[in-house]
Amino acid sequence: MPMVRRNALPASDRMPATISSLQELSAATHACRECPLGAPATQSVIGEGPLHARLMVVGEQPGDKEDLAGRPFVGPAGRLFDRAVAQLGWSREQLYVTNALKHFKYELRGKRRIHKSPAQREAEACHHWLESEIALVGPEAFIALGAVAARSLLRRPVAVTRERGHWLEDPAGRRVLVTLHPSALLRGDPAQKAAAWQAWLADLSLASQVFEARARAARR
Ligand code: URA
Repeated sequence: MPMVRRNALPASDRMPATISSLQELSAATHACRECPLGAPATQSVIGEGPLHARLMVVGEQPGDKEDLAGRPFVGPAGRLFDRAVAQLGWSREQLYVTNALKHFKYELRGKRRIHKSPAQREAEACHHWLESEIALVGPEAFIALGAVAARSLLRRPVAVTRERGHWLEDPAGRRVLVTLHPSALLRGDPAQKAAAWQAWLADLSLASQVFEARARAARR
């Protein structure tokens, strides 16, 4: 298993020097206070899926349901993503599904916890955890769901509507397919829903290549 060296941090923030398993990653992110999001969250939420999945799907941050369950994409956005996965003939067990940020950012309105978009400095603070996760899983390619995930992977601001639906390369030469976050479809104009759904499936379907290449290699 690859050993992942953590970024240098001030002594007060120092955590284990290496991350050698997803369990360690989970514990280290849970303890992380490198940005203000860790303290009010219930727990950190790291990714889930086979350790050597070929395709890593990256969302923004856990939502309310994910924060409580400790698992990614189990709320409404996750259910929409699951529908797309089923329609594409994929299975969630083939994918490693995670988020750019490991803690839920919210504001309280009465008793309700309302999602807040992460600040860029919070996404940056979390980036090394995503890199640790990538090093442990070693995917061949990525799907970035939404602008926060796309920026975190590509290391530059990304205009999702302009850059969606084709393979891009990150600075390390890794393949990244950018598309909408499922919550954009949930929020979208009801009159456009069917078209938006088909366009989203068309974007995602490009990543079927990753599974097809693997199946071809296995037949050889
Ligand atoms: N939205 C995300 O980006 N990730 C989740 O895990 C849930 C909702």
